[in-house]
Amino acid sequence: MLSLTEIYESYQDHAGSVTFPSSPENLYGSIVYFLDYPGKRIRPVLCLMGNELFDKIHPNAYVAAYAMELFHNFTLVHDDIMDHSAIRRGRPTLHVKYGQDTAILAGDMLLIHAYLQLNKITQEYRTQIINIFSEMACQVCEGQQMDIEFEDRAIESVSYAEYLKMITLKTSVLLGAAAKIGAIIGSASAKQQEDIYEFGKNIGIAFQIQDDFLDAFGNTLKMGKQAGSDILENKKTALLLKAFELANSSQKNQLKEAMNTAGESKVQAVIAVYKELKVDLWADWAIHHYTEIAFNSLDRIEIPIHKKEKLTELANSLLVRQS
Ligand code: IPE
Ligand code: IPE
Ligand code: MG
Ligand code: MG
Ligand code: MG
Repeated sequence: MLSLTEIYESYQDHAGSVTFPSSPENLYGSIVYFLDYPGKRIRPVLCLMGNELFDKIHPNAYVAAYAMELFHNFTLVHDDIMDHSAIRRGRPTLHVKYGQDTAILAGDMLLIHAYLQLNKITQEYRTQIINIFSEMACQVCEGQQMDIEFEDRAIESVSYAEYLKMITLKTSVLLGAAAKIGAIIGSASAKQQEDIYEFGKNIGIAFQIQDDFLDAFGNTLKMGKQAGSDILENKKTALLLKAFELANSSQKNQLKEAMNTAGESKVQAVIAVYKELKVDLWADWAIHHYTEIAFNSLDRIEIPIHKKEKLTELANSLLVRQS
């Protein structure tokens, strides 16, 4: 079995790479610009680990892992347009550098290439994997739509249950599907596939709450993304919803007034209320809580415990991430 670092390295070494044509230069150049500066590669690594849990890593798992990462990059390019984000992975976002029209097409192209990768998977389980992937892709779009619609809703009208549904769709199902697809390639049983999916999904919920936390309390340089951007966009994050639940009437008014303003003073005003209400501590609890739920699903998979260590290590490393 490979160590966590070896899994990362083996993904780098084995994952395919698409060679794009040179023309139209801006379209393909923008994709190369984005892919050449990779992120944390959590989804492909989860896919490989889901596979290695049941077998030695199969060549098909590398193909699926790469498809997962291409899809993820597609969502980021379009998400940055929707969220008006200027920085990603420490550099100008694709739409800022190349314009919105090119960014839409570059995102489309990344999605198409994800499917071209999936089509290379051995016929045996290709259709099953493409179906799971497509269902997940529809869910991500649904989650993104909910996220955008929440922006214009009053805080008190968005429940925590709706928030959880939204982040499960926009973020968690991708992590769940990545792990499950790896497991399918490893010939896992239906029950094992379900348990590993639940593991990935709950890690994904913890991951998005952590992302919300970092947006308010993290550091722009370390994250490679603009801190405070959720507050500026009136995103209904875990922190905002929890703050509103805990706030007294004067703090509620403070939050509502701040949300009608703009700029750095808006960010600082909202963070001040967050600190007063200690929602940072609550977020830390919530992140650990969903990670525990994920570990319970992993425990249910009846295979030797040492085979699960890497997934545990990955989940624990995400608890302390700063980017
Ligand atoms: C960002 O995902 C989008 C979310 C689901 C929060 P990552 O934080 O995994 O992004 P990269 O790939 O490492 O840049
Ligand atoms: C990420 O949500 C969800 C998808 C990209 C599908 P965010 O909008 O919070 O992600 P970041 O913070 O921009 O990476
Ligand atoms: Mg978004
Ligand atoms: Mg965003
Ligand atoms: Mg975010």
